[in-house]
Amino acid sequence: MPGVTETARADHPTATAATGIADATGTPADPPVAAARTYSPGLEGVIAGESSIAYVDGAAGRLLYRGYPIGELVEHGTYAQVAELLWTGAWPAHAHLPCAHLPSDVAAVLRLIPPSTHPMDALRTGISAWGAGRGMNWPPTLEQARALTAIAPSILAAFARFRQGLEHVEADPQLDLAAGFLYQLRGERPDPAAARALDAYFIVGAEHGFNASTFTALVITSTKSDLTSGVCGAIGALKGPLHGGAPSEVVDQLSQIGTPEHAEAWLRDAVARGERLMGFGHRVYKAYDPRAAALRKVAEGLSGMADWLALAVEVEDVALRVLAELKPDHILKTNVEYYAAAVLQGVGLPPDLFPATFALARHAGWTAHCIEYAATSRLIRPDVIYTGPEERHLPAPAPVARPKARGPKASGAKASGPKAPIAASPRASGARGPKVRRPKAS
Ligand code: COA
Repeated sequence: MPGVTETARADHPTATAATGIADATGTPADPPVAAARTYSPGLEGVIAGESSIAYVDGAAGRLLYRGYPIGELVEHGTYAQVAELLWTGAWPAHAHLPCAHLPSDVAAVLRLIPPSTHPMDALRTGISAWGAGRGMNWPPTLEQARALTAIAPSILAAFARFRQGLEHVEADPQLDLAAGFLYQLRGERPDPAAARALDAYFIVGAEHGFNASTFTALVITSTKSDLTSGVCGAIGALKGPLHGGAPSEVVDQLSQIGTPEHAEAWLRDAVARGERLMGFGHRVYKAYDPRAAALRKVAEGLSGMADWLALAVEVEDVALRVLAELKPDHILKTNVEYYAAAVLQGVGLPPDLFPATFALARHAGWTAHCIEYAATSRLIRPDVIYTGPEERHLPAPAPVARPKARGPKASGAKASGPKAPIAASPRASGARGPKVRRPKAS
């Protein structure tokens, strides 16, 4: 594990294992702790909690939600069932989770933001406005989790229409979340295959352990703040390019490669320039990402994607070979984003909505973790190794020049003892200051 132990930082006189800071004499205020504590940049490898929600087995390329393999869930389940599984731990025989009605106050906020707003910012703003009007108290509940997960697609779809100058489409209570999102985006019921493919994408994106956005939500929950705040923070974390995924960049990559014959040279040049091949590599998975395998199957069932997929599959083979040859010290396999690009494109979403669509799916996981954490909540407040200066003191204040008093003394009383500094009244010192209007006595 990359990291340094705190006691190894003997080069820094103020850092101690016990407190991280010394008193003015350099003596630690507390006795040093027995065991050295480990600092791991980015918290890599640090165990920060316990959870029964998902198991991410990076070495074997397995992802289990409450024990069930992701491939089985995609094949036989729906997002509504999976969300209930994540929230409650039980697999429901049937579940229905429609998009929620968009309240007029939230629609008004979404109309106010510029059409050029990043869809992730629009989603975060809409969720925040929605939460502001509903006042969710701690602890997070199942009802709150359902409500947040159900309102998010309505918010994103409304913003996507408002920015085009179109009116909002009222949610259809008969449709489940993914189909309902497509309906609210386009104003017509989606093709069942497209709805099913997006539902599968939602299942795959629903949960992934203690990733950065989920951990952000947990930090917020641990302060006993509300679930809406946790979700807003999570959306902010997911927006960052290191986390929010790269499916739109996979689309760009394939369109630049163009044909299978160009793949080898294009990919080699990209790696030689120090660029990352989009859709490959993962911090946790050192085997083929099981989500990529599940989404590849889904994409194969989408009409209109055959040519794109054929190119994607050929490019993937070449990329894996090139990466194994040029980066022999790292295990770099296909990740979820590679085939997420195929599914999101195949259902007709514009690439700039890809990250926010991922956020819609992840609502189930974020909120499930917040509910779980709140049950045994402990404030998340890690330590830090102090690297600033030792205790020191501000420089002595420069002597203030005393202006000479002129004219008659302000009072007849004789001053006794050391002379007090002259009061900073511009009138008393004869200087011109702003006129002070005295209030009239009433
Ligand atoms: N293409 C080429 N080289 C890659 C690579 C990729 N996709 N991913 C990692 N590497 C290389 C790095 O250049 C580095 O090589 P070096 O040691 O010779 O400099 C090495 O592998 C380790 O990289 P590091 O950044 O430490 O790995 P990480 O575990 O922190 O990164 C990702 C994980 C996902 C950020 C990274 O693999 C990546 O940027 N992938 C491309 C973007 C992507 O698909 N994102 C979606 C993730 S779900």
